[in-house]
Amino acid sequence: MSPPKPTILISRILPEQALDMARAKAEVDYFAHDRPMPRAELLTRLKGRQGLICVISEVINEELLAACPELRVVSNVAVGYNNVDVAAATRRGVVITNTPDVLTDTTADFAWTLLMSAARRLAEADRFVRDGKWKQWEMMLLLGGDVHGKTLGIVGFGRIGRAMARRALGFNMRVLYQDAVAADAAAERELRATRVDLPTLLRESDFVTLHTPLIPETRHLINAQSLKTMKKTAYLINASRGPVVDEAALAQALKEGWIAGAGLDVFEEEPKVNPALLGLVNVTVAPHIASASHETRIKMATLAVENCLAVLGGKTPPTPVNPEVLARR
Ligand code: DGY
Repeated sequence: MSPPKPTILISRILPEQALDMARAKAEVDYFAHDRPMPRAELLTRLKGRQGLICVISEVINEELLAACPELRVVSNVAVGYNNVDVAAATRRGVVITNTPDVLTDTTADFAWTLLMSAARRLAEADRFVRDGKWKQWEMMLLLGGDVHGKTLGIVGFGRIGRAMARRALGFNMRVLYQDAVAADAAAERELRATRVDLPTLLRESDFVTLHTPLIPETRHLINAQSLKTMKKTAYLINASRGPVVDEAALAQALKEGWIAGAGLDVFEEEPKVNPALLGLVNVTVAPHIASASHETRIKMATLAVENCLAVLGGKTPPTPVNPEVLARR
């Protein structure tokens, strides 16, 4: 007799391919909706299950882990995992996995879109035409800032930060980066990137783009003081995590002209957006969709399923966050 299949809860709608993979190897309890699962329902349905495939809206904390002692793996369908208390999971022997690599270029493509949109006022231009305000060609209509030949400052020089540097090569930009760890010399040469400290990056960049994880050290990394350090003609792009930026300070900076504009995919209290930001024309906003391409969502979901099934099958998952738990087995 074959051993019983492991049981997993999938707390968010997933592309069919990924769901089929999961169902082939596990007993799946599926919350087939594209909205957060109510907390009480999540805790009830997760009880007794060994695996959870979830997204960033699920808070994986001590409370959840204590309520679900059979849980062996939490597979986050995201590269970021600030929704997970990794230390608590590690203490309890629960493997955490994420979905890096597969979304790098898609996320950088979108951050670049925000950069271009902020610089060239695309969202404002779109509204201008739709509102029937376009009466004639005008010499001075909706002037923006050039992107090519400017200086790009990348905060966080991991996979996505480097993908931004690669895009900057095509725009003949000077690239500065700030990261706790220096890239190796070959990478710096290939990407024509120079490591500087944050104040230098803020002072010298025409575009500051954020690609750092949300950890205690990066919460409000961009605050009133850093915004005042930036050039008045500069733009801020954030496709990392909302709380990396002090949104109230950013709204003030945009309103009072400390910087020229911003492109934001992420916010401090999603899905709420600071109303002060929404009242401004010099900010392009998007609903946390940087990795949202058809292709990439399939890759993220299938990688998440692979991770979950690998752990439950006693194998090493492709992308663990806390591999020390595996080493203990
Ligand atoms: C990620 O992968 O971290 C994206 O922000 C989607 O959650």
